[in-house]
Order: sequence, then structure tokens, then C-alpha cells
Amino acid sequence: GEVFEVKNVDLKVGDKMKIKGKIADDAKRFCLDMGKDSEELGLHFNPRFHDDVDGAVIVCNSKHGGCWGSEQRDPNFPFQKGEIVKFTVKVLSDCFEIELPSGHIVAFPNHLSLDKISYIRVKGDFKVTSFKFD
Ligand code: GAL
Repeated sequence: GEVFEVKNVDLKVGDKMKIKGKIADDAKRFCLDMGKDSEELGLHFNPRFHDDVDGAVIVCNSKHGGCWGSEQRDPNFPFQKGEIVKFTVKVLSDCFEIELPSGHIVAFPNHLSLDKISYIRVKGDFKVTSFKFD
């Protein structure tokens, strides 16, 4: 899979990130991670096409000191293999709001109380073609 990593980002509460890319034709999973570094993630947003338990599901989690927190699973799954998609993430003091290609919003609590995002990574069966902040 691909890895797209950006360090020294300066995303603050109220800011929005847009990301566009292509989901692999044979995609199994990809994730978007946002936080301080790879061990401190306020958001791990992880669409899975074939999860062992739930099938197609979006798993969200946080990571603190290198350890995962508790998962939140959302059965809304508007992603398709091979597709070019856009989605946005808004950073708020109490949560992350991810707007899916369908318009549905997934909210995940900002467990680490991050007021600044300096690290962004996209990994897995997704190729980033553009991203921007506004
Ligand atoms: C694990 C998986 C990690 C991450 C985590 C989220 O099972 O190996 O990559 O997705 O779940 O809770």
C-alpha cells in the first residue's frame, strides 16, 4: 500500500482539511491518521472493506503513548473500490468531524484534547492525489 506522510503541519481547531485520492481496485483497507506524531493520534480513521467481524465498516480510534484506545465503529460505508473520492476532516476542540463522500458525517471524540494537528498520514490502499487546508 501507499504511505503519504506530512510532518510540521499547523492545523488548528476550526480548520478543515480536504483530501482527494483513489481507492485501490482491490482495496482491503486504508487509514487517515492525524495527531502530534505516529504515537499520539487524535484520529485514526480506518475504512475496512472486509473486516472479520463487521464486513464493510469504518473503524475510528485514537492512540496515546503508542497504545490504541477503544474503537468506534460506523456501519455507514460510502466507499467503493477503484473510486476517486474526496472527504474532509474538521478539527474541533471536542471532536473530529469527518464528512464522507455521501455527505454523512462521522464524529469522533478528541480524546487527546489536541488543539493543534502537526502530523498527518494516509496509509494503505488509497493514493492521495491532492489535499488542502482551509
Ligand atoms: C487494529 C489494527 C490497527 C488499527 C486499530 C484500530 O486491529 O491492527 O491498524 O486499525 O485496530 O483500533
